[in-house]
Amino acid sequence: MAHGSRDRAAHAGQVAVITGASRGLGAGLAASLASEGMRLGLCARTRPDGPVGTESVTASVDVTDARAVDAFAGDVVEAFGRIDLWVNNAGVLAPIGPLAEADPDALHRHIDINILGVLHGSAAFARHVRARPGTGALVNISSGAATNPYEGWAAYCASKAAVEMISEVIAREERHHGLIAFAVSPGVVDSDMQVLIRSTSAGSFPQVDRFLRVQEDQAFNSPAWVAQFIVEQCLEAAIGAATRGGTGTVRLRVPPGPGGARPSAT
Ligand SMILES: NC(=O)c1ccc[n+]([C@@H]2O[C@H](COP(=O)([O-])OP(=O)(O)OC[C@H]3O[C@@H](n4cnc5c(N)ncnc54)[C@H](OP(=O)(O)O)[C@@H]3O)[C@@H](O)[C@H]2O)c1
Repeated sequence: MAHGSRDRAAHAGQVAVITGASRGLGAGLAASLASEGMRLGLCARTRPDGPVGTESVTASVDVTDARAVDAFAGDVVEAFGRIDLWVNNAGVLAPIGPLAEADPDALHRHIDINILGVLHGSAAFARHVRARPGTGALVNISSGAATNPYEGWAAYCASKAAVEMISEVIAREERHHGLIAFAVSPGVVDSDMQVLIRSTSAGSFPQVDRFLRVQEDQAFNSPAWVAQFIVEQCLEAAIGAATRGGTGTVRLRVPPGPGGARPSAT
């Protein structure tokens, strides 16, 4: 189905979990999925506000804590009976700057959130899908940095490359258990992460100009556009893949939206 022309009520009542839903892309995805009538499980370290008028389970969860992620999945299943779509969106960009100057503790924290957090969320959702009938869509939010080396972003490039391989592996491991996995690169989405990028010196991040230009041109992908892509390309693919028994394309890139966003680096 073409991006933009579908029945928005088709997913009413389905259940989506979004990590990192307190702000930025995650909060925007939550608002869009709520407008489709989906029920939501939302978490971040700061407890997210559920969209008004939407059935939601919200909690303060640090994705580096496997037990907390599992417990949250259990709370959502207890409230709604099942989870159809799980989006590992929580992520950080810092530390930015030459690796030779990086604080080892900051590197450790980055890897814990961006890699371990995605491993924990993916594992929790896979266990859930195994335990109930039908398929489920796993979406791990990636980035153009997974495949392009950006000076100043050693940790981020490494962690997003890892996110893509986690997605490739779990897509294969779980293909006979109903889980359909994707790594989705959303394009440039205006958020606190973009504010951080734009405020970085060219000495720490030589490509900062490129992101300043995206802001000047307002050439962002909106969270609503990313949400629509995820619903059409990931959730609907999973619903249609009941016994696919193989893996299709795992790594997806959200195309430029109506605002004409340039291809993503973040
Ligand atoms: N913005 C872009 O242009 C862009 C482009 C490509 C990819 N992405 C990816 O999109 C995702 C969202 O980015 P964003 O731009 O929306 O960033 P953001 O505005 O900084 O939001 C990040 C979210 O992750 C949560 N988070 C951070 N650490 C966490 C932890 N340990 N446990 C649970 N939640 C945590 C934050 O909430 P708390 O601080 O309250 O925990 C927040 O809700 C990230 O994976 C990012 O790499 C963004």
